[in-house]
Amino acid sequence: LRIAVVGALNMDLVARVPRRPERGESLAASDFRVAPGGKGCNQAVAAARLGAEVAMIGRVGVDDFGRQFLDTLAVEGIDSSFVVRDEEEGTGIAMPVVFDDGGNSIIYAPRANLRLTVEDVERGAAAIEAADMLLLQLEVPPACNLAAASIAARAGRPVMLTPAPAEDLPEELANLAAFLVPNQVEAAMLTRQPSATPEEQADMLYREGMAAVLVTLGEQGCVAATAEGIGRFPAFEVEAVDTVGAGDAFCAGLAVATIEGRRLDEAVRFASAVAAISVTRRGASQAMPGRAEVETFLGERA
Ligand code: RIB
Repeated sequence: LRIAVVGALNMDLVARVPRRPERGESLAASDFRVAPGGKGCNQAVAAARLGAEVAMIGRVGVDDFGRQFLDTLAVEGIDSSFVVRDEEEGTGIAMPVVFDDGGNSIIYAPRANLRLTVEDVERGAAAIEAADMLLLQLEVPPACNLAAASIAARAGRPVMLTPAPAEDLPEELANLAAFLVPNQVEAAMLTRQPSATPEEQADMLYREGMAAVLVTLGEQGCVAATAEGIGRFPAFEVEAVDTVGAGDAFCAGLAVATIEGRRLDEAVRFASAVAAISVTRRGASQAMPGRAEVETFLGERA
């Protein structure tokens, strides 16, 4: 069970607030934490904790945060040989604000992540070729994603793309992805149909040639469009304290379960459990559950 991840590593500076501040307002946070995040790192950590052998390709700075990332990846047993340290730019930073219901808004400064190069990705080609699946998101330069997806395609490896943060998706990249996992904001943006239902959006994206499209809806579950049709799957009910990284947890869970050959409904159930557990804890990468925990959770909710 091998996964390669090309993506961002952002140190998350997380403030807990009752609401968004108004323009010109200063608002006191009730809690503040610094925790490793970035969609790439979150997906890598989640997949590793679920039992996958993971290789991460990315860029961090020659600063404390960069060193902390390399430590984190080592502790998680993730191969970081293809995480380059950028001499000129600092490690990526994200500033999520988390509300009392666990919901969040994120501002991020990509920094070193945007200095990832096609050559960096090509140096990790063997890891991509050896992987059962390649996970991509949109926090690194588009050319890097395209290079990674092309390597995977040539090696016959499927690509799962989280089109986040919401932005236009280069058609060439979309054509190379087998699995597309947008949230509602991203699905609205990609289809340019904000008032369409998630079912309609999933169907439209599926028709562009994906093997599967899963539109994630947070506590409302998700909608999947595959060759078998369109279906809605519920989320598990949990007490959410911090939803940062929930989408990444879901993607990693879906990737692992798909590689293991689970049926779509089972894979979605597994992914939903990974996401559900992750939102009951603070932090993004740190909140990812281990395999045994997910199995116990699923057993209890059977
Ligand atoms: O998907 C969640 C992640 O998005 C956070 O960890 C933050 O770093 C941003 O990149």
